[in-house]
Amino acid sequence: MKTEDISPAIGTAVHVEKAALRDDEVARRCLELLEARGVLVFPRIGLNDEEQLAFTDKLGARVNFTSRVPGGNKSAQDVYTITLDPKINTEPEYVLGTYFWHMDGLTSPIIPPKASVLSARTVAPKGGQTEFASSYAAYEALPEEDKKDLEGLRVIHSVTAAVRAVTTPDALDATRRNMSHEHPLVWRRQSGRKTMLIGYTADSVVGMSQAEGRALLARLLEWTAQPAFTYRHYWQVGDLVIWDNTGALHRVVPYAADSGRRMHRTSVAGAEAVV
Ligand SMILES: [Fe+2]
Repeated sequence: MKTEDISPAIGTAVHVEKAALRDDEVARRCLELLEARGVLVFPRIGLNDEEQLAFTDKLGARVNFTSRVPGGNKSAQDVYTITLDPKINTEPEYVLGTYFWHMDGLTSPIIPPKASVLSARTVAPKGGQTEFASSYAAYEALPEEDKKDLEGLRVIHSVTAAVRAVTTPDALDATRRNMSHEHPLVWRRQSGRKTMLIGYTADSVVGMSQAEGRALLARLLEWTAQPAFTYRHYWQVGDLVIWDNTGALHRVVPYAADSGRRMHRTSVAGAEAVV
């Protein structure tokens, strides 16, 4: 297994034979690297669903939090197809919302997924790159005064907020329209590191006016998304990317519905309750 860092604050490429992903020691090193570097890229490793699920299971317990949306799979397979192809995805709002910075699973009453695992099956000729921003590095670099001001703040995350830029709430079904969940803004991990639970799902700050809360959330998001803390992945067919969903935000660069872009995602369940 050979590795090389691909941007200063986040992202490491891992060069390894596909067969080695079945090895416990390789999985252990990948988890260590994921904690340290936030994003792991396995260039053109070319996993099929079965191999992707097997590797996902090596990294932790599997979770499927999108089984009810188009592209989701109610079967035991737990592979979510991300596409804007109207033949597969009849409710594009959910995917269009991913044009904006977010962490997966913050609007559900679940522990946020530990990691997302994404493989490229068909890539778009234009757009479709995925960008990642380290919320660990962004928090760490904040002025001490700002860190102090964030202590104890809590944030409401909602699906309505997640899609606000692309549609209206009435385009959502009632379940998703009403989905929201409260999290601390700063999450101190068992490791001692601190991450921020922010992004477009973040709707309001508890105890602040809408204006004050949204201004704070927007400032923090803009801070986190600055180039020093980000990495943009240009996909090739067969690439596999894993990211620490609790320490990084992500978004996709817009692409056309008829681009053919198709990604398969699996998720590793969160193992550490948010406190
Ligand atoms: Fe996502």
